[in-house]
Order: sequence, then structure tokens, then C-alpha cells
Amino acid sequence: MQRLGTIDVFPPAENFVYMDAASVGLTHKGAAAAINRWQQALADEGTIAFDEQDEVECLDNLNDAAARLFNAQVRDIATASSETVLMQSLAWAVMPPKGTTIVATDTTHPSTVYPWMRVAETTGAEMRWARADNLYIDPDHLESLIDDSTSVVCLSHVEYGTGQTFDLARFAAKAHMHGAICVVDVTQSAGQVPIDVAATGIDAAAASTYKWLCGPFGTGIMYVSQALQKLRPGIVGWRSHKNMWDFQADRLELPDTAKRYEFGTMAYGTAYGATEAMNYLLGHSIEKIHAHNRVIADRLMTGLQALGAEVLSPRKAAERSATIAARFPGKNSRDFARTLKENNVIASLRRDFIRFSPHLYNNADDIDRGLASIKAAL
Ligand SMILES: Cc1ncc(COP(=O)(O)O)c(C=O)c1O
Repeated sequence: MQRLGTIDVFPPAENFVYMDAASVGLTHKGAAAAINRWQQALADEGTIAFDEQDEVECLDNLNDAAARLFNAQVRDIATASSETVLMQSLAWAVMPPKGTTIVATDTTHPSTVYPWMRVAETTGAEMRWARADNLYIDPDHLESLIDDSTSVVCLSHVEYGTGQTFDLARFAAKAHMHGAICVVDVTQSAGQVPIDVAATGIDAAAASTYKWLCGPFGTGIMYVSQALQKLRPGIVGWRSHKNMWDFQADRLELPDTAKRYEFGTMAYGTAYGATEAMNYLLGHSIEKIHAHNRVIADRLMTGLQALGAEVLSPRKAAERSATIAARFPGKNSRDFARTLKENNVIASLRRDFIRFSPHLYNNADDIDRGLASIKAAL
């Protein structure tokens, strides 16, 4: 299997067996160049190079790419500097009240759920945790926790550690049956697994762009349903006003769209980079990337098992992604990850396991080289 993302676009893929997209994906070369160009032009010419119209358009273009990524309307998209910021603003907008429960998994990423926990601290809403068994969340157990007390089901589409993937349509339907909303952190899925907000019916989806989207740090994208576009965001600033160039501070009229979740300036150059990276991935189609990644991840999983590793990721096709977590019997994962890195095999240590996350720029040779290094280090 050839690389889908080629060496000219992802040069480091030639020198390393880079399997760390779940931590930080290789940045699309054109995306990095766009950011640098913007920064240099700003340094050289200030607002001559980047005027007020550019300030609007750069986020509009990013919204447009995100809408295509999520199969949403552009009016349903907001962008800011990270997933956490957007999720935080949404959690304060929703403000799950006292007497209600927020359902989440105990394997989720802190950034997915801390915003909701923080709001719950203030309102008195309660967290209800789906507990993992050896890092696996039983979807039936998760579903059984959603009942009439639930106000929010807060999930990570793909779990950061094991890559366990949830059936969003199932949990959105269950949430809605009980009058709750289903809010999803798609940071670990966007770019590797197709996301269809229209087909799944989820109420919100937020992601940072530096992992599977091959974009930069500093940009986050969010879809929110039209119902959530009627709420008052937790974070507001000058961009929050309907006509932000008014600069009239004694009133705040929010836009009627998801744009109300955009609030201030940001490192705008990252928006150019993120847009470039997303358009590149969309040019391949996420379905094609998903299929590519499935083949290389299968090869990796089979190889790891043959080497006696304890694979912690689910085996069922529908519950898997290209993120594969493993422990190596008799080996300290921290030391083992370091040894692999010294051999140019890049993966990440998470808790007491090693997480491998190959992406479109990996090919079958990479996987075989990685497995050979692992074998030699065992
Ligand atoms: C699921 C998930 N959400 C969010 C983040 C990070 O959030 P942010 O980029 O907002 O700091 C990570 C990073 O590992 C993640 O895995």
C-alpha cells in the first residue's frame, strides 16, 4: 500500500516512521507555508497586508472547509483557537441545571469534559460516568446511563487513548429520546473518520486542527445545531456582535448563526493553514483516508499481536480507528517508547501504554519497519 499523503506534502514521512497523529499530526507543507507567508506579510506590511476584509474572510474560508468536513451548513460553524475554548463557551451556553446529569466516559480526554464539569460545579448538575474495563467502554453500559435526568451526553467520537469509536447516531438518538443533547469532541476523529452531523443528528461537534487534520496548533472548529445557535455563548468579545465593526460597547446583539460562538482576534495565520490542510484532506475525501488508514492499522494490529503485545484497542471494525494502544509484556512503556523513538519510530506514551496512530502519509513499508524495530527492541 502506497502513501496517500505523499512525501512532497509531508516530507518528514520519509525519515521517520511517524505514527503519532493522535498526538500531533504531520503538518501539511502548504499549510505551514501559508502560515509563514501570512506572518511575514504582517511583519512587513501590517494592515496593508492583512486588512479588515481579510480578517473576516480568513475565518469565513475556514468555516466553509469545516462545513464540508462535517456535512453541515456554513451558518452552523464557528471557529476559534482550539476545541477547548469552543467547548467551554458551549458548556456555559447550555448550563446544564441542577437535578440533571451529564453522561461521559472515564476514558475521555480531559478537554472534552472539563468544561462540562466546571459548569456543573456552578449549577449543581451531576456527572454520570461510564466506567471502562481495561480501557474499553461497553456501549450498552454507556447507553444505559442515559435517562430522563440526562441533559447532556458528552462524548469523544474517537477515544484519545485506545481509538475506541462510538456510534454517534445511536447516542444522539438515545439522548434526544430523553430530551438531552449529544455533544461530541471530534478532535481525535476529524480527518481520519468521516463525520456527518446531518446523518448522525448530533447537536455539536468540536475539534482542534493539529492532529488528524494535519493543520496547525491555534485553530479550532465547531458545528452547533440551530437550537444551540439560540443560546448565549459563555465566551464573548468584540467579534460576538452581529456587526462587529460597529464597536459600540453598550449593547450586545449576537448573530443568528453559529458565528455567535466566535468572539475575538486569534492567530489568524493558523486559519489559512488549517483551511489549506482541510481542503487537501477533503480533496482526497475522508472516506478514502479512512479506508487507507484501516488497511495500515490492520497490518499494525496484526503485527503487534504476532509479537505478543497486549492490544488494548477494540477489535470490532465499527469500534476501531487508526489509533492503536498496546502494552508489551515485561516492558516499561515509557522506556520502550523512548527506545522506539531512538530508532525513528514515533509513537506516544499515554498512561501505561504506547499509542500508535498512523495516518494517510504512512504506507505498508512504514508499518513493517516499525514492527521490525519493535521486534528488535523486545
Ligand atoms: C479528544 C481531545 N480533545 C481535545 C484535545 C486537546 O484540546 P485543545 O487542542 O483544545 O487543547 C485533545 C488532545 O489530545 C484530545 O485528544
